[in-house]
Amino acid sequence: MRIAPSILSADFANLEAELRTISSSDLIHVDVMDGHFVPNLTIGAPVVARLQEITTVPLDVHLMIENPERWAGSYAETGASSVTFHLEAATNPKEVISQIRSSGSKVGIAIKPGTAFEDVSGLVEFADMLLVMTVEPGFGGQGLIESVIPKITQAREFIKAQGLEVSVQVDGGVGLANIANLARAGADTFVAGSAVFSELNRNDRIAELRLLAESI
Ligand code: DX5
Ligand code: ZN
Repeated sequence: MRIAPSILSADFANLEAELRTISSSDLIHVDVMDGHFVPNLTIGAPVVARLQEITTVPLDVHLMIENPERWAGSYAETGASSVTFHLEAATNPKEVISQIRSSGSKVGIAIKPGTAFEDVSGLVEFADMLLVMTVEPGFGGQGLIESVIPKITQAREFIKAQGLEVSVQVDGGVGLANIANLARAGADTFVAGSAVFSELNRNDRIAELRLLAESI
């Protein structure tokens, strides 16, 4: 069970100090938004590269951008541990996968709440992680869409039946109230933005979330 705080909820004017407050994270989730694939804009590869230099926690980059064929490789070259692109944004997902891999990062494929698992199932064997979005991508602090939960189980059962070693990540609206249920449904990697950054002691919150996820 891995907890990945999303820095979308951090103070963007003080990222170095903010990263120090989440030192016990398993991964640091970095949301990259281009203002096109989603109606919000965050940071690009130069900032991700600097974040990589100031932390020893692996970076988990979530690309919410159009044309990942053009850009995914440059995020992998920052040294990020994993780079996740959206299936809906890719015209040639296998090309994106090979670019990320050849730059040395692990590969994640994300699907939005409205995208069926069947649309991505043929690619799961080529990925290290499947990101099942539990909100519409674009903004932190939204409520989890409960109707997505069966898709988490569907993904986990498929991965198990195929004998694959692929992580199932959930992102959006994850917190103390639902993390155990998400773990029970089959998720093993949990992104939490507002649930971590709203707390004064973030490492305590990370420990609480991890304990709940592992309590199943
Ligand atoms: C949403 C982002 C999420 C977001 C989660 O598009 O991909 O990573 O930061 O924030 P919370 O945990 O507040 O829903
Ligand atoms: Zn994200």
